[in-house]
Parts: sequence; structure tokens; C-alpha cells
Amino acid sequence: MRPKISVLLPTYNEAENIEKCISGVSQIFKGLEYEIIVIDDNSPDNTWSVVEKLKDQNPKVKLIRRMTEKGLSSAIVSGMSVAEGENFLVMDSDLQHDESVLPQMLKSLEEGADVAVGTRYANGGSTGKWNFIRKSLSVAANTFTKLLLPIRISDPMSGFFAIKREVFFKYGYKINPIGFKILLEILGRAEKGLKVAEIPFYFRTRLHGETKINNSIARSFLMTVLDLRFGKWISSTFLIYSLVGISGVIVNLLGFILFENLGVKDLETGIGILPIFPSSVFFGIELSIISNFILNNYFTFYETRYEKWSAIRGFIIFSGVSALGIFVQLGIFQLLFYKILPRLGMPQNFELRLLCDLSAILIAMFTNYFLNSNLTWMSQTKKRM
Ligand code: GDD
Ligand code: MN
Repeated sequence: MRPKISVLLPTYNEAENIEKCISGVSQIFKGLEYEIIVIDDNSPDNTWSVVEKLKDQNPKVKLIRRMTEKGLSSAIVSGMSVAEGENFLVMDSDLQHDESVLPQMLKSLEEGADVAVGTRYANGGSTGKWNFIRKSLSVAANTFTKLLLPIRISDPMSGFFAIKREVFFKYGYKINPIGFKILLEILGRAEKGLKVAEIPFYFRTRLHGETKINNSIARSFLMTVLDLRFGKWISSTFLIYSLVGISGVIVNLLGFILFENLGVKDLETGIGILPIFPSSVFFGIELSIISNFILNNYFTFYETRYEKWSAIRGFIIFSGVSALGIFVQLGIFQLLFYKILPRLGMPQNFELRLLCDLSAILIAMFTNYFLNSNLTWMSQTKKRM
């Protein structure tokens, strides 16, 4: 007898689709030894209860109803962890994936491929009736992936694929199961190139329910590509944080120019350490703190972001951390330049002054990053858990 096949069907609010999907798969594999595992994240539309009824009629159907976890990739991992087949087939349960190509995927695995990917972007494949925005986003994501990663298949974001049991268990522990990009994670984290077959298919239009792709899923995809490319050297969160920092310098300068042109006057304060207050410099700094906060909140630390009015609290903490950064930089500079240099017997020239400032900037940047990820945005995580 041929080895058993496990078909994994993740569902979230697919009550109107799941029955048809299961019967389509059952038709295709009639006479073979297979199991169908539905992984439902306690869908509010009660998809799980539809599956419970189907299970009574068909012993090949199994159900995992997850109560506390959510997410497509992690659902697939949960399914694979209990699957009994030699080959795993992963398919959307909303009828967008064409079940008639399943036997071809299986055949590729039997002929030696490690992974067989259903592709919308190779000859004979199609993304079907997507709107312009969805099509452009998909093409952009695809191009971005191929620019940064040595992955040469046409549709690395596909959610329709088959994988050998042993290949999943060899690399599965390495993957980051957030979001939708499980295939990309497997292909990207397998240390040697996997043998990948591509099978074109026509991506059908959804008839019932709606897509679950959202900003968080798009962001986690971007972070994964950065992590796969640069993760050996630098965390992708820190990379994004640094890019935001660079954009902040530009905003700082543009703000300065803007307020100079608006004719904002410097103020005479008469206070010892700051007798003249350079207003446009201050507004430039403030503008960059605001833009850094917004970008970090909605991008760098999106998962633990401040929402609505709580953003004011977050902004106050962030401003405090930023102000502290100024003192860290000042303190480190004076320590390096006035204490350490003379002790090492080095000259206090301009080049070394610059080097001391650069070191102080980098150290302040790290301490700010540490405080922002462990304080400003960390308190949010704790609150949500
Ligand atoms: N258990 C579980 N938990 N299932 C989920 C979750 C979740 O949090 N989110 C989505 N799913 C299920 C859906 O019910 C559906 O069966 C399948 O995963 C795909 O979700 P869709 O929301 O329909 O995705 P899509 O059609 O917009 O996106 C397609 O293209 C993407 C790349 O462009 C899918 O094929 C994706 O897999 C693919 O990454
Ligand atoms: Mn879909």
C-alpha cells in the first residue's frame, strides 16, 4: 500500500467553505490512504462545529480546535505535529486552491522533490481575479523577496504546497510561526538548498467569507525577509529601528529648515547654561521625536503598539527615553574624550574628538534601543498577555 497522505486544512471563519473543501479533497484521494486534518482557531463563525459533524460521517477527518493560539503558520505547524502521513499537503480551505493539482504535487514528492509548491506565477498558473492593489502588493512582495534572498521559485509566498514528513521535522524547529509565510520560512531556513518542484494552478476567487491578510501579516513577512537576509548579523527589529532613526535625522533637518523659513525667533532666556534658546532647532528635534515615535509604534514595534489614546502615554515615555539618550551621549563623550584619551596618552585632536562623538552616538543608540524595546513597548506586551 502507498504511504499515508496527510492533508492539512487551516480554517478561520470558513464555515461556508469547509464542507465543500473536504468533499473536494476526498473525491481526489478516493481509494487512497489519507487523513484530513482541519486546524481551526476556535472560529467565531463556528467552523469547528461544522467539522465536528463531518467527522462523524467520515473517519478520515480530524479536527484540532485551538483555543488560545491564532495564526495560519502556527496552525499548520500544529497540524503537522500530529499528522501521521509520509507526505504533508497544505491547502487553503476557502476553495481558492485547486484540489485537482494535489495528485501532481504528491507525485513530485514521490519522484524525489523535498517540497512541491503550487504556483500562481509560472506558466499555466494565475492569480485569478485579484484587484489591482492586491496584485501590486503581491508582485512587490515577490520582487522584494527575490532581490534579497537566493530563493529562485516563482511563488515563495504560496500557501499551497506539499512537503515530505522528514523534511518538515528536520527544519520545522527553526521556523518563526508568526503570520502566513511558512513556506518562505522553510525554504529560507533549510541549510542546504531543498529540491523544489513547482506546479502551476489557477487561484480561484473567494465566494464566501473574506481574506485574513492584514497589516500585521504584511509586516511579519517583511521582517522575515530581512531576518533571513541579515539575521546572522543584526536583528531585523534593530535594523528597522535604525532606518527609522536615519529618517528621524532627515525630519530633524527638514523641521529646522521649515521653522527657520517660518521666521521662528530664538529666545533669550537669561539662564546660565542656555542663555539663548534656538527655537527652530528645538522644533526640528520635537518633530523628529514625533515622527520616530509614530514610525516605531506602527512598524518597528507593531505587535506591541500603543493604540488610540494610550499613544499619548507611549509618546511621553518615548520622549523621556530620547531625552535620556542626550545625556548618555554627552556623558559618554566626556568620559571618552576627557578621561580615557589622556589616560591612554592619546592626543585630543579633531579626528579623535569625532571618533569619541561617533562612539557616544552608537552607545546612546543602543541604550535607547534597549530602553525602548524593554520599557516603552514592553509594558504594552505585558498588558496584553
Ligand atoms: N487556523 C487558522 N488560523 N487558519 C487561518 C488563519 C488563522 O489565524 N488565518 C487564515 N487562515 C486560513 C483561512 O481560513 C484560509 O483557509 C487560509 O488560511 C488562507 O487564508 P486567506 O485569508 O484566505 O488568505 P488569502 O487567500 O488572502 O492569501 C493567499 O495568498 C497568500 C499569499 O499571497 C493564501 O494562499 C495564503 O496562504 C498566501 O500566503
Ligand atoms: Mn484565501
